[in-house]
Amino acid sequence: MLETRDLTIQFGGHVAVNGVSCVFQPGTLTAIVGPNGAGKTTYFNLVSGQLKATRGQVWLNGRDISHLSPSARTQAGVGRAFQLTQLFPTLTVLENVRLAVQARCAGTHRRGLNGWSVWSDHAVLIERAQAILNGVAMQAQAAQVVSSLPHGDQRKLEVALLMALDPLVYLFDEPTAGMSADEAPVILDLIRQLKADGRHTLLLVEHKMDVVRELADRIIVLHNGQLVADGAPAEVMASDVVREAYLGRSAAASHSLSATRSVPSSPPEHPTPSDGVQS
Ligand SMILES: Nc1ncnc2c1ncn2[C@@H]1O[C@H](COP(=O)(O)OP(=O)(O)OP(=O)(O)O)[C@@H](O)[C@H]1O
Ligand SMILES: [Mg+2]
Repeated sequence: MLETRDLTIQFGGHVAVNGVSCVFQPGTLTAIVGPNGAGKTTYFNLVSGQLKATRGQVWLNGRDISHLSPSARTQAGVGRAFQLTQLFPTLTVLENVRLAVQARCAGTHRRGLNGWSVWSDHAVLIERAQAILNGVAMQAQAAQVVSSLPHGDQRKLEVALLMALDPLVYLFDEPTAGMSADEAPVILDLIRQLKADGRHTLLLVEHKMDVVRELADRIIVLHNGQLVADGAPAEVMASDVVREAYLGRSAAASHSLSATRSVPSSPPEHPTPSDGVQS
């Protein structure tokens, strides 16, 4: 179980994430929505440790991980997609995935160094890396050098590397952004499978509302860094507080649905109607 308590970060005078307290259970997918600049990516950065909170904590399975480095949080089970700058651009796709699998396995099944164990471990790592590449439909690109990949493949590789770490918590930040219409379903399918196996806690930042509607068990809405709604997808999508956050309607903040937790908020400075929620 992942929990954030009063999680807050301030950049100068701007509070980008403001007192977000939330619990996420294994086997569930929570969509995090909100207008551009709402604080969604910053929230992920606070959970993964890329940013240090001004206030508040992150807990994973009863352990306060707030003071851990990003890599220690990864070891603890928080999986955040790699940035391409963290990859080895001159190595092949398969080599990159193998290194990620190896990083995950380090320490978990060392059997002492002899020629046989090194060789068999190596074979197991390659096999696992290949299975992961098959999962993201990239087996054909296995031997390609990472720096030569088109954008859509680079995004798929990011997901492959994340899966190689086998984390407890997956943080997906717009995982299909920039992908073509035939690439996106591969990733959405993987997310569906991860959800179905029930072990993982999935958080998904996504602007595409049809994807959210299909995948999410729950939606939380961030607006100006604050959690303004939290509930079942149909209820949150229909709630006035969401319409206001997306469309800048002034009507609404006071009549959010009773099933959703909500906090009144001021209209957004940069409403994004194109992200809007259809009723
Ligand atoms: N390192 C930083 N330094 C200063 N301000 C930052 C930093 N990171 C984020 N911000 C600010 O925090 C706010 C929230 O940004 P964030 O990227 O989390 O929004 P978002 O909800 O992910 O938006 P989008 O939907 O466009 O991805 C923005 O005003 C942004 O400019
Ligand atoms: Mg973002």
